[in-house]
Amino acid sequence: MGGPQVDQSIRREVSDASIATLTFDRQGSTANVFDSSTFDELNQHLDFLEMEKSLKGLIIRSAKQKVFVAGADLNSFTKEMSAERIEAVIDRGQKTFERIAHLPYPTVAAIHGVALGGGFELALACDYRIASSGGATKLGLPETTLGILPTWGGSTRLPRLIGLPNALEAIMTGRHYPAEQALKLGMVDAVVFPEKLLAVAVAKIQRSAGAKRKSSTHLSNRPPLSQLIKSQAEKRAIARTRGHYPAPLKALEVAYSSLDVPHEQSLANEKAGFIELALSETAQNLIGVFFLQERAKKLKLPKDLDAASLPPPKSVDKGLVIGAGLMGAGIAQWLSSRGIHIILKDVGPGPLGKGMQSIAKLYSDAVKRHLFSETEARKGIDRILPVYEEIPLRGVDIVIEAAVEQLELKQQIFSGLESRVSADTVLASNTSGLSIDAIAASLQHPERVVGIHFFNPVHRMQLAEIVRGSRTNATTLNAAIQFAKRIGKLPVLVNDSPGFLVNRILRPYIGEAVRLFADGYRLDNIDRVMLEFGMPMGPLRLADEIGLDVCEHVAKDLAAGIRHLGSLDGIIGKMIGKGWLGRKSGRGFYDYRGTGDENVNSQVGDLQPPEPVNVNEEELRDRLVLSMVNEAARTIEEKVVSAPEDVDFGMILGTGWAPFRGGPLRYADDIGIATVVSRLNALRDRLGQYFEPCTLLTDMTNRGATFYAKRELVSSSPGVLSPKE
Ligand code: NAI
Repeated sequence: MGGPQVDQSIRREVSDASIATLTFDRQGSTANVFDSSTFDELNQHLDFLEMEKSLKGLIIRSAKQKVFVAGADLNSFTKEMSAERIEAVIDRGQKTFERIAHLPYPTVAAIHGVALGGGFELALACDYRIASSGGATKLGLPETTLGILPTWGGSTRLPRLIGLPNALEAIMTGRHYPAEQALKLGMVDAVVFPEKLLAVAVAKIQRSAGAKRKSSTHLSNRPPLSQLIKSQAEKRAIARTRGHYPAPLKALEVAYSSLDVPHEQSLANEKAGFIELALSETAQNLIGVFFLQERAKKLKLPKDLDAASLPPPKSVDKGLVIGAGLMGAGIAQWLSSRGIHIILKDVGPGPLGKGMQSIAKLYSDAVKRHLFSETEARKGIDRILPVYEEIPLRGVDIVIEAAVEQLELKQQIFSGLESRVSADTVLASNTSGLSIDAIAASLQHPERVVGIHFFNPVHRMQLAEIVRGSRTNATTLNAAIQFAKRIGKLPVLVNDSPGFLVNRILRPYIGEAVRLFADGYRLDNIDRVMLEFGMPMGPLRLADEIGLDVCEHVAKDLAAGIRHLGSLDGIIGKMIGKGWLGRKSGRGFYDYRGTGDENVNSQVGDLQPPEPVNVNEEELRDRLVLSMVNEAARTIEEKVVSAPEDVDFGMILGTGWAPFRGGPLRYADDIGIATVVSRLNALRDRLGQYFEPCTLLTDMTNRGATFYAKRELVSSSPGVLSPKE
């Protein structure tokens, strides 16, 4: 039989026992994806595999460390988007996977690493799936999160394999499942140590003695149970998506109908549903967000810094985290889980004990969610050394300061540290908005200081703002960027300026919501209108989550640097005076002392004018959203960031800003810059100078410019940014 054969992406071997193996190993890449040439190769292998009737079975595996097959190459869908082009890509995948499904002998996917989207659909086309344990393997069909649906057989095969309820949950939420959880749901047949994967796959083929897998029967796939499950899933999706995301509902329709129609018809339904969704603005914006994340993974030093002459950043094995409060504990947990040894420093045993407790809780929650094994969690905690006395700090590669937000304190901390750490230790502050230049001002080597601004909760928020002080040098900035990537965060590069990017744009949003409330708008109307716009929570609930005292503090700091932002309405001071600080104190705009958190604080209305204002929803929305758009444009005008993508990416990842709208600047483009400006002008005329559109927006209107070139998911050049250039 055929010996080893080397080609671009997929190697084929046939063992003495007549078992064929296809190993996905895309050259020059750490991942496997499906693009046109991968399909060419796979089909060539299938020509051989279909001919070789004497084969006993086929194993499909990957040679990569972290990826089985990551899915379709999205570029193949987004280049020259047209129904015909999309149809051709879908047909390619469906036909190829059908060939695998119809091979006359048993087939096994031996899955190590992520098997998502098309990667998991490949595995679903096999008879059996064996997954590796140890955390690297994740399976799922995330298509609906991109505004599309699984269309290479996933919407059709998964309900039959694991039953309708679990299949709908997987398809409609797009969740990634760790191997152990996938086993419980029946997505895979076994979970074994990575080194046993191949042997177990071989044994599976040998045990099945040439027989294909028999199809499963699930009671839940038949009426009336299936109808009930469908209608429940529909209700949940409508409540969750508020009508903004059509993909989960379309996927539901296709997956549900797959139980009643012939297989080929179901594949045709997948295709029709996909084409309808993919051409919508929602899908384009959501796929755009995916590309923004990919863009962040490739973040490099800005052009004015000489990257070529830099040595590669040294590896980070040991870190010092200062402050064991909310953020410090979260950061220490995250870093320790990435294999970094941490010294966690606070002022005494009290705060350290609390910090270690919350770290233990973060780990135990992660174990429950199958993100780590018990052993991994224990090892992670053991990597953290809590200290409140001074200890030698040589060997510390990075310092991340997360002590309270006071400039003098941060200055003292860094001055005290400078001579105690090695000359090449990176000094990073997690400040929310204090000036990096000011923090570094009194140091002998201010070029070592950089901001690494994590978001709360650290384990859930992927964004990290990397803040470049005016004296931060290339080595430090590069080290911070590489560090953020290494620990699995997505960096956005921001110049040192008040509130950096995300908090600066949030400030007018929260400020305007407070002002609306003070004007007499009902709290639930303010928050509802923004939920309907697509925000994950309303601005007043967000203020409660952040803490009203923190909002007030941030507003004061920001007003010192950005005058037009001013201070928050006095109503916040009154609430703070009553001890209503938001969720953490049990009351804020809402009352958190009961079981649910839906209750409005019954006394907060006493602070409003007696006559409620009649709701003008359009004005309400404009006041909130356009305040943000205006501020977002200013961050471009003032070169806080270098491109509209940075703004949209930062706001979506940092605040959950309506992803299907593509971010505040994409939204501005979509409604038209001239419309933004004329609505802001109208608000200014009625409500005051605060709404004056910024120079960039006015200028762009005059030039007929947009932030993004039309129909581009990610702008190729930031040329439209700066009329000054
Ligand atoms: P926190 O009040 O929960 O924790 C601060 C910790 O710093 C306390 O445990 C305190 O004992 C400790 N500390 C005070 N002085 C110290 C010193 N000299 N040496 C060592 N430890 C000291 O505050 P949180 O919320 O964790 O904030 C910390 C920093 O992170 C602040 O700069 C804040 O602006 C920033 N930040 C906060 C976010 C949030 O959502 N809370 C989000 C992102 C950044």
